[in-house]
Amino acid sequence: MPLILAIESSCDETAVAILRGEPGRPAEVLASEIASQIDLHRAYGGVVPELASRNHSLHLRPLIERALETAGVGIREIDVFGATSGPGLASSLLIGSTAAKALAAATGKPFVAVNHLEGHLLSPFVDRGEIPPHLALVVSGGHTLLLDVAGAGHYRRIGSTRDDAAGEAFDKVAKMLGLPYPGGPEIEQTAAAGNPTAFDFPRSMLKEANFDFSFSGLKTAVLYTLTDRDPDHGTPQPADLPDLCASFQQAVVDVLLAKTLRAAADLGRETVALSGGVSLNAVLRNAFREGCQSSGRQLILAKPQLCTDNAAMIGFAGLHHHFKGHHAPLDTGIDPNLPLALG
Ligand code: KG4
Ligand code: ZN
Repeated sequence: MPLILAIESSCDETAVAILRGEPGRPAEVLASEIASQIDLHRAYGGVVPELASRNHSLHLRPLIERALETAGVGIREIDVFGATSGPGLASSLLIGSTAAKALAAATGKPFVAVNHLEGHLLSPFVDRGEIPPHLALVVSGGHTLLLDVAGAGHYRRIGSTRDDAAGEAFDKVAKMLGLPYPGGPEIEQTAAAGNPTAFDFPRSMLKEANFDFSFSGLKTAVLYTLTDRDPDHGTPQPADLPDLCASFQQAVVDVLLAKTLRAAADLGRETVALSGGVSLNAVLRNAFREGCQSSGRQLILAKPQLCTDNAAMIGFAGLHHHFKGHHAPLDTGIDPNLPLALG
């Protein structure tokens, strides 16, 4: 069974994973190492590209060594090397991609270039292997995508966000509320003590006859609520914070769930899969569990450790390229705006 070593470095997590797998069978994740840079970037309220790439360079070699040790394999036993080639920050992508290509060149093994979105998209299936026809919602910091998936490599875009991604909306609203970066987990935690119906925030594009999303109106509605109360500074009242977080979170969840279920019904898909950093949110996961159960659909969730950026999902998608013989030449570049290959 082939062994892949995969590297993810598209944003602020440096990650290396080693997986073993064969077509249609669950993949065995032998190692999945992550060096998070969140603490480093928190001081700046967001990701600083120069800092991110410098830290990828620092962390990559020890992570590769640790992954090999954890997996109990030598570098020469690896059959294929993979890396995220986009979308993401150019200077960050370059570090992981160059390292994986160098390892492939040095060992004479093939290289696979993986789209970060395909990594998220396939992450719910790592321990299942088989990719059944399904409707997929990918919700991350950079993307909100509804896709009709016929099988691995066969994707049709059904809808996406017209402005902010869902995770971006969480991060921006958290900043407005004075909560630290990244905002998603902070909002979820603060919302736990709040009332989701306290503020009547808009459910944008819910009634429109398409499967696109928009979150900038919701973000502005939160801002107006703040400036109505404190015209000079828009500073939230501490007592309002849980209610603001819970009401904002509920508005995002309602739209994501309603549009996904409607798309699944329209396309006749019995299975729904949810992935990406925002899919770690327990309110979203529970809403999808209930929504799918009551509409008679099977829900497949990515495991929590596979929701936010990691290299195991890149390795799993990379294995599928390897199974099909889709190796990339060693002069393959990175692309910060790499689109997901559809068809
Ligand atoms: O998939 P990911 O790690 O990176 C991208 O590819 O963008 O997603 C990161 C995003 C961030 O916007 C973060 O705030 C959000 O996922 N996120 C969450 C939660 N955990 C992470 N959003 C809502 N609730 C959470 N618990
Ligand atoms: Zn991601």
